[in-house]
Amino acid sequence: MKKSVSNILLSVDRIVITGGSSGIGAALLQQLGTLSPDFKFCNLSRSSAENSSLSDRLISIPCDLSDEESSQRALEECREWLKREDRGGKILLINNSGFGGYGVFPAPSTERNLSMIDVNVAGPLRVTGFLAEELKKSKGAVINIASTASFQPTPYLSTYGATKAFLMHWSLGLAQEWKADGVQVLCVCPGPTETAFFKEAGFKDAPLKKGSGQTADEVAEITLKAFSKGKSLVTCGVANKIVAAAAGKLPKTWVTWIAATIMRRLRLERYQD
Ligand SMILES: NC(=O)c1ccc[n+]([C@@H]2O[C@H](COP(=O)([O-])OP(=O)(O)OC[C@H]3O[C@@H](n4cnc5c(N)ncnc54)[C@H](OP(=O)(O)O)[C@@H]3O)[C@@H](O)[C@H]2O)c1
Repeated sequence: MKKSVSNILLSVDRIVITGGSSGIGAALLQQLGTLSPDFKFCNLSRSSAENSSLSDRLISIPCDLSDEESSQRALEECREWLKREDRGGKILLINNSGFGGYGVFPAPSTERNLSMIDVNVAGPLRVTGFLAEELKKSKGAVINIASTASFQPTPYLSTYGATKAFLMHWSLGLAQEWKADGVQVLCVCPGPTETAFFKEAGFKDAPLKKGSGQTADEVAEITLKAFSKGKSLVTCGVANKIVAAAAGKLPKTWVTWIAATIMRRLRLERYQD
């Protein structure tokens, strides 16, 4: 993996990531950090990205993507950082921040659902739009972390699934639009992954049977492999690929019914105190 990834990443010098403070984002930071000592990292999230092996190559700019003012301030600071660290290489932007919420709409609250749209939808748009000129000038790349929830409606996680469907469609469109500018765009669709995601979504524990999900490290590895191959879409893992393909073949109402049956079984209270 290392060799093929380094070929395409050879000319990257600056990496901007959202949500590098935890889970998949932290795993991506860790793996990218070992690929080249020349990469410089800028993390945008509410808490700092802690990674001792990257200490002098990583800065964290506080950024709440659900807040327009906080995002704008952070992005202006990020732009200054990009100028300061410019060694003539490409910029890689990873839109990874996101969260979900399990329940019957509007639970947990309409505000929380709106905030989800801000972080999962408006967030990637705002960051990518703000850095569009820099990305095109450096012939850089964008990686968007969507989900297998992109492929069908996800009752009890309805808003979340809809945000990820948006992200996947937008990402695939962008991949075509920015091809002429030499900017590669990859959309990544992980299935259930062992991170803080489920706690954030309202569960005490991840509702995963032992070994049924993937680790953040596995998702990060699949992401970097797909990126190195120049792909515009990757679904993480064989089982997720099969489910995503089946979802595409069946009528939307059937898939929604099946998804509702599966999601209902998760029953939040079984995973809470
Ligand atoms: N875990 C899964 O099963 C799974 C499956 C498919 C897709 N995904 C997607 O993978 C991505 C990463 O999630 P994860 O699984 O690694 O979960 P995680 O460990 O909870 O990480 C979520 C990241 O999003 C950031 N974030 C949340 N709210 C934010 C805000 N208002 N402003 C800025 N950043 C914010 C968090 O940083 P701060 O808290 O520091 O702000 C954190 O770094 C998400 O987009 C998620 O939808 C996850």
